[in-house]
Amino acid sequence: MNRRYRKTVIAGNWKMNMTATETKKFAEEMKKIMPRAKWCDTLICVPACNISAALRAFKDLRISVGSENVYFEEKGAYTGEISAGMLRDLGVKYVIVGHSERRERFGETDAGVNKKVHAVLAEGMSPIICVGESLEQREMGVTGEWVTLQVKSALHGVPADKLRRCIVAYEPIWAIGTGKTATAEQAGEVCGNIRATIRAMYGARVARSVTIQYGGSMTPQNAAELLAQPDIDGGLIGGASLKPEQFVEIVNAANQD
Ligand code: PGA
Repeated sequence: MNRRYRKTVIAGNWKMNMTATETKKFAEEMKKIMPRAKWCDTLICVPACNISAALRAFKDLRISVGSENVYFEEKGAYTGEISAGMLRDLGVKYVIVGHSERRERFGETDAGVNKKVHAVLAEGMSPIICVGESLEQREMGVTGEWVTLQVKSALHGVPADKLRRCIVAYEPIWAIGTGKTATAEQAGEVCGNIRATIRAMYGARVARSVTIQYGGSMTPQNAAELLAQPDIDGGLIGGASLKPEQFVEIVNAANQD
């Protein structure tokens, strides 16, 4: 973390979990234990059908609500899709874009991710842009090149004054939902490379203002060590964000004086 230059952001990603009723229960639990997070912004990305319920339930908790996905077109004949304007109108502030599960299972491409980033920014929201390598790619030694390509494609055509609103989440695919975390050094190194890529594209001042998260089996046990890396400014948390106590412990790790 480096709070002098950029925000620390702890984000939950509920994936396809939790009903609207469970969302309300979660918020009630959180009300008992959620600290006043001075040093970090906190949000949870929920399934689209729960966004309204989450906005209501989290209102007094200082937890913003994010979407797990968006479609890049403004409107039209795209049955089942949801536009950035629709999300903004509800009160959504953040949108996950290009999660590896969407890239792998739903065929999202780097070009599509780029269009989504533009759509989210155009509505004044923050994209959380997910990048990360597979185990095969790590073993082949191409992690750096792969992640650089993903970052460059996602940010293609994005002007420098919008970068402050972009969050990049480095999520090694082999660490997601597996209980295998990248070591703090491994994660810190890739996040450092991501910042170097942004620096090469936009210059040092912009690069140091961008929040870069780590995601992939982040837990209360490993959060502090990961967040101690200078280029890791928060976390994108799946499994542990479903349990109020665990999520709060990670917020606490990011909120140390
Ligand atoms: P995990 O998921 O924390 O359950 O590994 C992270 C993510 O996919 O964003």
